[in-house]
Amino acid sequence: MAIKKIGVLGSGLMGAGIAQVAATSGYEVTVVEVSEELIKKGLSGIEKSLAKFAEKGAISAGQKADALRRLRGTTELEEVAGADIVIEAIVENLQAKRDTYARLDALCKPETIFASNTSSLSITEMMTATGAERRRRFVGMHFFNPVPLMKLVEVIRTILTDDDVYAEAAALAESMGKTVVRAGDKTGFIVNRLLVPFMLDAIRTLEEGLASIEDIDNAMKLGCNHPMGPLTLTDFVGLDTTYYIANIMFDEFKERRFAPPPLLKRMVQAGLFGRKSGSGFYDYADPKSPKPINLKIA
Ligand code: CAA
Ligand code: NAD
Repeated sequence: MAIKKIGVLGSGLMGAGIAQVAATSGYEVTVVEVSEELIKKGLSGIEKSLAKFAEKGAISAGQKADALRRLRGTTELEEVAGADIVIEAIVENLQAKRDTYARLDALCKPETIFASNTSSLSITEMMTATGAERRRRFVGMHFFNPVPLMKLVEVIRTILTDDDVYAEAAALAESMGKTVVRAGDKTGFIVNRLLVPFMLDAIRTLEEGLASIEDIDNAMKLGCNHPMGPLTLTDFVGLDTTYYIANIMFDEFKERRFAPPPLLKRMVQAGLFGRKSGSGFYDYADPKSPKPINLKIA
């Protein structure tokens, strides 16, 4: 099956990025959100990102205009019924995803491939919200943040995924300029299995009072050449999303290294979700010069 039309669910950090690279790569893209306001926010973020690429000469003004023309936003799930593949990037919550997949299964044509961008949920658990035929057309396509810049997609198959569908998902990611790695359906796949304990350990290090926010970040940036320190990275991923991921991974493996530290939980409870909410470990009032926040830990 030649993929031409792509449905993207969610236009948050990840959905907007996926929609952008899909539209830039020549696909017709319909993005579904829960409100008009969030669609507007997602599409305006895409426009800004495309403008940056155009300014740098990475794409032409014509390519930018073409990409924007191929994108449409809606609040109606029914509008992805004709898609060849639906890539889901809604909140990291099993029930929300299962409810969405059950509705989608009834709406979409039998050939439509379902792909989840989940960070940590089991593809199998989501797949079982759909009928027997769809289960063979269900994969994980795990993109990385920020999607327009990060080169990797993890493509995940379950024990039931058809070989053709797995190959089509990998070819789709490659057609978007990404490099594919393949993994089985184990929580966290490859990258988050290794990355999430590192991010959580950085938070534990702060919680123990070993060093300041800036020193923990600078240590890993300058000592190990990481592009971002781990606390900046957690702000970037979203503390809420990191917290959901940690809980899901801890539930799967029952190992302390995946357990969300109490400080992460408190920060999420306090509404400090990171860059997307304006503050996390840093305050982003001036996004070009974030300031570490004064956390009263003791
Ligand atoms: N669209 C277009 N251009 C963008 C952009 C976007 N969304 N974001 C940044 N840029 C551009 C900037 O304008 C800048 O351009 P110039 O060089 O012309 O100024 C360039 O990219 C570099 O950006 P910055 O100077 O702001 O910052 P940087 O050099 O640190 O690069 C980064 C940004 C690529 C994000 C880099 O910091 C990085 O690689 N960070 C680590 C990201 C990472 O680890 N992501 C994975 C997260 S984990 C995950 O995704 C999985 C999960 O399930 C949780
Ligand atoms: P986000 O909070 O930025 O965005 C999620 C969006 O989904 C929100 O705008 C929300 O309104 C929307 N949404 C919720 N329910 C919906 C529904 N039923 N239909 C349509 N839209 C709905 O979250 P995010 O960081 O973009 O994460 C999305 C998914 O991608 C999660 O599964 C997450 O684990 C995964 N992921 C996140 C990252 C990251 O770095 N943040 C990286 C890779 C994968």
